[in-house]
Amino acid sequence: MLVHIVDDNDTNLMLFEQLALRTGPDVRVVTYADPVAAYEACRRDVPDMIVVDYMMPVMDGHQYVEAVRKLPGLRDVPIVMVTAAAERSVRQKALELGVTDFLAKPVDPAEARLRFSNLLALRRGHLQLRDRNRWLADEVRKATITVVQREQELILRLSKAAEFRDPETGAHIVRMARYSELIARRLGQDEEYCALILKAAPMHDLGKLGIPDGILLKPGKLTDEEFLVMTRHPEIGHEILRGSESHLIQFGAEIALTHHEKWDGSGYPNRLRGEDIPLSGRIVAVADVFDALTSERPYKAAWPLEKARKLLEDGAGSHFDPACVAAFLVEWDAVMKIREEVADEAVVIY
Ligand SMILES: [Fe+2]
Ligand SMILES: [Fe+2]
Repeated sequence: MLVHIVDDNDTNLMLFEQLALRTGPDVRVVTYADPVAAYEACRRDVPDMIVVDYMMPVMDGHQYVEAVRKLPGLRDVPIVMVTAAAERSVRQKALELGVTDFLAKPVDPAEARLRFSNLLALRRGHLQLRDRNRWLADEVRKATITVVQREQELILRLSKAAEFRDPETGAHIVRMARYSELIARRLGQDEEYCALILKAAPMHDLGKLGIPDGILLKPGKLTDEEFLVMTRHPEIGHEILRGSESHLIQFGAEIALTHHEKWDGSGYPNRLRGEDIPLSGRIVAVADVFDALTSERPYKAAWPLEKARKLLEDGAGSHFDPACVAAFLVEWDAVMKIREEVADEAVVIY
């Protein structure tokens, strides 16, 4: 506990110093005959209690208290003002300026020591409460991070579950999520949106959990009837994810539902057109198709990059949102880097 004593009278300084030191072994006292020097010291190091005389040259007790209360961290520090008993208006003004307590002259040493010790106890309680609040805020922050991590882990595991039944690989999910993030960033979306789409895009095909194996794993082309069943996966995915309190899962539901819509209104399931399709669905459509084309699958070889790029260019304005295609192509170097970093064999999902 640091105590400042501010008084132009040396005898008083010594008396108050002795009294303050007797309030506890952890008490340190610094005395100031000059209030301006005391004020400067408060700027450097916040005291835990201030004892200040009212009658001082240059700066009186009022001016001192008024100035000190404005300093950072000094709003709650107890201040005791030493005044002559008769000075009623002085006391009232001092209270208005934020003085905590008074000592009447002539000072009774026993009373002074008790007041000091009460005010320092108050200060200790205040500091403990502040530390506890800081500690609690820190714990809440840590717990929140844990919850968010758990949520992400569950989403990845759920997406893995879908992949067990799907010929698409884990690497596909990582790449298409990172392409989605690239497009979102290039389109000028904020950091929060970019982070969200990166985490939510892996959920796009979750609905394939609800598609029978005979159709999902069929090596050849699907019949019209089978294709119709396959086109239910966006709605199934949406059904699995919708209604969550989690912003991330809500976003995943939106992506699951809309990633097969097409810009010209010929997609499924709702034949949405243009900007009626949520941006997330338009972004993921580009990222998902590009990666599916350029990946090797049991039933097909990977397309050459130029051919896949051409398909995006040709599809801009019909299948895809032209702005999303343009954003993707501008980021071509970054796309190539992601392909290198996330090779098919690099991600093993078991
Ligand atoms: Fe899909
Ligand atoms: Fe996909």
